[in-house]
Amino acid sequence: NKSLVSIDDYTKEEILEVLARAAEFEKNPNCSLLEGKVVASLFFEPSTRTRLSFETAISRMGGRIVGFTDSSSSSVTKGETLKDTTKMVSNYCDLIVMRHPIEGSARYASEVSDVPVINAGDGANQHPSQTMLDLYSIMKTQGTLENLNIFMVGDLKYGRTVHSLLMALSHFNPTFHFIAPPELEIPRGYKIFMEKNNIKYFEHTEFNDIINDADILYMTRVQKERFADPLEYEKVKNVYILKNDMLSNTKDNMRILHPLPRVNEIAVDVDTNPKAYYFEQALNGVYARQAIIAKALNL
Ligand code: CP
Repeated sequence: NKSLVSIDDYTKEEILEVLARAAEFEKNPNCSLLEGKVVASLFFEPSTRTRLSFETAISRMGGRIVGFTDSSSSSVTKGETLKDTTKMVSNYCDLIVMRHPIEGSARYASEVSDVPVINAGDGANQHPSQTMLDLYSIMKTQGTLENLNIFMVGDLKYGRTVHSLLMALSHFNPTFHFIAPPELEIPRGYKIFMEKNNIKYFEHTEFNDIINDADILYMTRVQKERFADPLEYEKVKNVYILKNDMLSNTKDNMRILHPLPRVNEIAVDVDTNPKAYYFEQALNGVYARQAIIAKALNL
């Protein structure tokens, strides 16, 4: 089926097709493409942007939403399995949007579901709909996805948005700079992926003038909820903080992205810097998700 579980479920051509469709939805967000359709929104883990932008996208397309925002109000608390939950909900609806804390859960759900499943984040693994809005934001701010200097900063180990985004950008000849403490560096599997695909990447632990070469500075939150040991989180929680004075020599076209939520990693006074793009990025999520839904349902 037309599930979107990992960003590599889309070819480069499909990525470009969905981005073009997102631009159409940005011009005309309200339509009746989902009239008579029901989308199930199953969030087993907290969310603000992903859930609300999916729900906004569905509403703007004339669809209806069922689901839960907290699995404690579902029969999961009685011991119902993900398999049974998914199978049964897939008989109620035309499409499932699912966030779950376990890596691989969305793939599993897509295999037992009778309708397409869109992965709204599975543990530290993948967040492909976020990637589509990130790419849309990069395209809008840079005019291209090709040949960009992409700097990714923070929790590159547990940050699922980073994992999906680096795979998608690998179609477009990027140069990556990864800035992370040793405890939070990019997992080996993604390094192997980049090496196999001849992607240029550099790893750094210092967060300093090297960002002056960036076209995109992609900041991330340290993912407290993924740490097995709270003391390990305490050691790295404020490892990098972006401040306004660090931006004075950065390129004019450079834009700061962050999937949000932010904790401390971007000082609040950066918000009014013209290079800050993260709130517009979150708005782009509505258009990107409209395009993803339309593709999943062949509309
Ligand atoms: N970017 C993102 O996934 O945010 P939420 O956790 O609020 O959905």
